[in-house]
Amino acid sequence: MDITNIISSNQLLPLATLTSRDQVEPLVNVLINTGLPLVEITLRDERTIDILDEFKKHPNITLGVGTIKNSNQIDKAVEAGASFLITPGFTKKLSQYAFSKDVLLIPGTQTPSEIMLASEQGHSLLKFFPAELSGGIARLESYNAVFPDIKFIPTGGISEKNASSYLKLDNVSAIGASALIPSELMRSNSWKEIEDRLTKLKTTYLIS
Ligand code: 3PG
Repeated sequence: MDITNIISSNQLLPLATLTSRDQVEPLVNVLINTGLPLVEITLRDERTIDILDEFKKHPNITLGVGTIKNSNQIDKAVEAGASFLITPGFTKKLSQYAFSKDVLLIPGTQTPSEIMLASEQGHSLLKFFPAELSGGIARLESYNAVFPDIKFIPTGGISEKNASSYLKLDNVSAIGASALIPSELMRSNSWKEIEDRLTKLKTTYLIS
């Protein structure tokens, strides 16, 4: 299965911010046990980039690396075995760099112009960010008529209140949310609680 199909078949893309190597194995166990074997590790913390290679021990996880803002981060993510990369916005430079590395980049977009620029560079799967602040469901519905060949991963403000509504849209491939794996529960090593919560959210969010 190619990466875009792996993402769309899982529908949920959990975001996690790692601050220590010790968090990788329990996180992987949660993902496997809940039947969601993919994750976007966000580079919101400066420690995370040097932890990524820990995922080499876990090839059964489809690793995405997010919050990518420069080519050095692309190099490190690729070295760690990332299957896909996510940028908060779109730049032609990073798009071309990722293509040259033969790795899927999912650029963040908000406006029609950004969508057109990304599409011109060959991207058909885009992050829609920050989803709720950018017009949310209504905006994605209007994009469906104008950009029928583009699929989105809305991210930013997705929670149990709106996840199912986003997932019902024809042009939504998956939703991205940090709320799926709360950082505070990771920090307190509450892995059982994280797993129970993710199992419950998966049942609640997913449409058949
Ligand atoms: C991101 O890092 O892509 C977003 O900030 C995630 O938004 P969320 O924390 O509202 O899910």
